[in-house]
Amino acid sequence: MGTIRPIPRRMGLKAPTPASSSDRPAAQPASGALRATSRTFELKGEIHRKLISVLNLDKVNSLPRDRVRMEIGRVVEKLLQEQRVPMTTAEENQIIEEVLDEVFGLGPLEPLLKEPSISDILINGPNKVYVERFGKLTLTGIRFKDNAHLLHVIEKIVSKVGRRVDEANPIVDARLQDGSRVNAIIPPLALDGPSMSIRRFGKHVITSEELIEKKTITRSMLEFMAACVAAKSTVLISGGTGSGKTTTLNAMSRFIPEEERIVTIEDTAELQLQQRHVVKFETRPPNLNKEGGINQRQLVRTALRMRPDRIIIGECRGGEALDMLQAMNTGVEGSMTTIHANTPRDAFSRLEAMMLMADLEIPSKVLIQQLASAIKLVCQVARLQDGSRKITSIAEVLGVEDGRVKTQDIFLFERTGMTPDGRVQGRFRSSGVKPKILDRLRMAGITLRPDIFDEVLEVNPE
Ligand SMILES: Nc1ncnc2c1ncn2[C@@H]1O[C@H](COP(=O)(O)OP(=O)(O)OP(=O)(O)O)[C@@H](O)[C@H]1O
Ligand SMILES: [Mg+2]
Repeated sequence: MGTIRPIPRRMGLKAPTPASSSDRPAAQPASGALRATSRTFELKGEIHRKLISVLNLDKVNSLPRDRVRMEIGRVVEKLLQEQRVPMTTAEENQIIEEVLDEVFGLGPLEPLLKEPSISDILINGPNKVYVERFGKLTLTGIRFKDNAHLLHVIEKIVSKVGRRVDEANPIVDARLQDGSRVNAIIPPLALDGPSMSIRRFGKHVITSEELIEKKTITRSMLEFMAACVAAKSTVLISGGTGSGKTTTLNAMSRFIPEEERIVTIEDTAELQLQQRHVVKFETRPPNLNKEGGINQRQLVRTALRMRPDRIIIGECRGGEALDMLQAMNTGVEGSMTTIHANTPRDAFSRLEAMMLMADLEIPSKVLIQQLASAIKLVCQVARLQDGSRKITSIAEVLGVEDGRVKTQDIFLFERTGMTPDGRVQGRFRSSGVKPKILDRLRMAGITLRPDIFDEVLEVNPE
């Protein structure tokens, strides 16, 4: 019997090996977790193997969970008797649950997927699983048995959406059944074993009211955005990784009138629009023979033939920027997209670069002009050091100056300091300029509350 180790809560079940001395202690042992000894790990492996011999695991998914649970219970009991392993009923039940998770679900990830407060799950190899709760990342005690076990779980996820991951395709995007977005990258590209990030989306869509509650945006800013979206102003949402771009896009899309026809284009469908008249497209990566791939650019072109009122591109990453921009300049106004950039200026440089890549023939001067006339507003989103998300600026596009798109802030978040425990202080306010876009709103028959630019909201966490 091996020594009692700190609690790696979940282990793989494919090939039993004793927990090796290199196993690091779990950072955050889940409460009530099984006191794992090397013998327990061996046992779980044996149970799994026995199960495979008594159950047809391919068919098992069609059997009721209770039935499988009973079978597993029987195997466990028999093994325990045979091997005279002392185990409490709670421990026995936990082993059964873990084997069930392995058979029916995503193994060690299952307990995390059941926890609604977790927004991101980041797996860096089999021994390091981080989660984000309320904007803060923490290491968990969740483990995979080894690289092969983690890879098996990744394969399970991607095969469900008809994709594959192997040495020839080491990078893959996929989706969980609840809509959560998955990105995985495996060796040889990932150096420390397979790595996967899961952005949980399925359970709850953050509403615009919640954005106000969380002090991501003020009511005045939201009302202003609502008016601009309703007036068919094209909006670019810019921000860093995980800053809340997609969430903001989702929330803003709510202000698109119900009668409009919307086409959404994404690499991995994650937008959750509230309107009824939505046509959703998702790209498809090429197969092993590099055939059959459909990219966002092709989908934008198709969308244009479908009489859309608006096109929403989940994230602009390449040539589709050009097609979208040209479409907007020829009538499909009020479209929205997100872009990975740290400032509005950055966002325009990136868009320009993407468009140049799509068509080298068009002079950059023309592209910049097109950008400046198509895009009306840029919403900059940021994830601050304390994990909070803020719309740090809503800027309007004024035109082109010195070969660059010129913007001016209408609303901004001004940082003023930091509390001793590291929380960001600041205030939301308007910049004081009279926005040019008010003319557009007036033309669309939209009037804003007269004091909309007067609100100042102090963010002063206790
Ligand atoms: N205002 C907010 N307050 C709290 N959490 C938020 C807020 N906005 C987004 N989040 C959370 O942050 C995570 C990232 O959000 P989102 O997917 O919108 O970011 P993103 O910028 O689109 O990310 P990516 O760069 O990966 O596409 C999600 O889990 C989401 O629930
Ligand atoms: Mg996103």
